[in-house]
Amino acid sequence: MIKFNQQPPSILMVCLGNICRSPLAEGIFKKVAADAGFVCKVDSAGTGGWHQGEPPHLLSQKVAWAHGITISLQKARKLTPEDLDRFDLIFCMDHQNLQDTLALSTSKSQIRKVSLLLEASYPRQNAKVPDPYYGNYSDFENVYHLLYIGCTDQVKRLLQTTSI
Ligand code: 4NP
Repeated sequence: MIKFNQQPPSILMVCLGNICRSPLAEGIFKKVAADAGFVCKVDSAGTGGWHQGEPPHLLSQKVAWAHGITISLQKARKLTPEDLDRFDLIFCMDHQNLQDTLALSTSKSQIRKVSLLLEASYPRQNAKVPDPYYGNYSDFENVYHLLYIGCTDQVKRLLQTTSI
């Protein structure tokens, strides 16, 4: 049983730059959660700060738009140590993001919040959402589908296992 500290529970999506994967993950999770009746707050951040203040990558915006999701108003920001206290769950896109996020942790309760987004879909396989930064539209579309699977399975798991 997962117990949240906050009501509604808060969820953070983490990638490297916070311009390709995690903004899309934020938008998809919000939609999937709303459609499933799971009330939560969702945000995203990057372990690197190179793109702080920028909107999501144009191809992330385009692929989101093609699926009826608007992410264009998001602004990139860097993950902070305080995020590990502020959020109930932190979903990382790949193993490097996971390691970099865990490097900011200072307690077991923080460590327990951090996992790979695709863990619910592909348990114990270290499954990653690949970095599409240098890719084309079809790479971003592939990322969208992986994120959709990951978000859908995490929402299902949370609805089954939370006590709010
Ligand atoms: P993201 O993709 O981590 O999915 O936002 C990247 C964005 C920027 C860079 C790398 C990956 N970069 O090297 O600037």
